[in-house]
Amino acid sequence: MQIYLAPLQEGDIGAAIALDQRCLGGFWGEASYRQELSQPHHTLLGIHGQGMDHLPQERELLALGASWGILEETHITLLMVHPDYRRRGLGQCLLWGLLKDAQQRGDRQWATLEVRASNQGALHLYQGFGFTSVGTRPRYYDHPVEDAVILWCKGLGTASFRQGLATKKKAIIARFHRWGWQFHS
Ligand SMILES: CC(C)(COP(=O)(O)OP(=O)(O)OC[C@H]1O[C@@H](n2cnc3c(N)ncnc32)[C@H](O)[C@@H]1OP(=O)(O)O)[C@@H](O)C(=O)NCCC(=O)NCCS
Repeated sequence: MQIYLAPLQEGDIGAAIALDQRCLGGFWGEASYRQELSQPHHTLLGIHGQGMDHLPQERELLALGASWGILEETHITLLMVHPDYRRRGLGQCLLWGLLKDAQQRGDRQWATLEVRASNQGALHLYQGFGFTSVGTRPRYYDHPVEDAVILWCKGLGTASFRQGLATKKKAIIARFHRWGWQFHS
C-alpha cells in the first residue's frame, strides 16, 4: 500500500467529515473544515492510503491532524486515525507532519494541546515526541465530563529537535515497511 501525507484539499472535506464522525463522533462539521482550509496560520494534514485490497485503485483518507499557529505557539487541535489502521504508526506520522510543519514555518517555539486524562494511548504517543504534562484543566470535557491534561513540547526551533524529528521519520518509515507500506510526503 502507498501512504501519502499531505495538506488536505477541498475535495477531501466529505471524507474528513466521515472520518471525524467515525473517530470522534462528529467533532468538526463542514463549516469547520472549510474554515481550517481558509486560514493561513492553520494546518490540516491528511494521510491517504492507496492500494488496499478492497479498493485497489482508490485513495482512502485514513488519518487527519490539525494545528493552529498562535504567535510562537503551535496548538494541536485534532489527531485521529481510522480504527482499522491504528497501532501501525499513522498517529506518529501525523504528529511528525504537524511538528515538521511548525518547524518549517520558522516562528514557532513550542507546541501544546489538551487530551483527556483517560486517553492513555494518545498520552503515550505525545510523550514519545517529547511532550510533557504541565497541568490539568478540571472538567474540561463533556460527554463524559473529564479533566484535560495540558501537554507542552518546547524547543521546536532547536537543532536537536530537528535531529529528533529526522530520527522519528526514519523509525516511522521502517515501521511502515514492516507492513509493506511505502511512504510519500
Ligand atoms: C490516538 C490515536 C491518534 C493513535 O493513532 P495510532 O495510529 O494508533 O498511533 P501509532 O500507531 O502511531 O502509535 C504510536 C504510539 O502511541 C501509543 N499508543 C497509541 N495507541 C495506543 C493505545 N491504544 N494504547 C496504548 N498506547 C498507544 C503507543 O506508544 C504507540 O507505539 P507502539 O504501537 O509502538 O506501542 C488513535 O488511537 C485515535 O485516532 N484515537 C481516537 C482519537 C483520539 O483520541 N485522538 C487524540 C486526541 S488528543
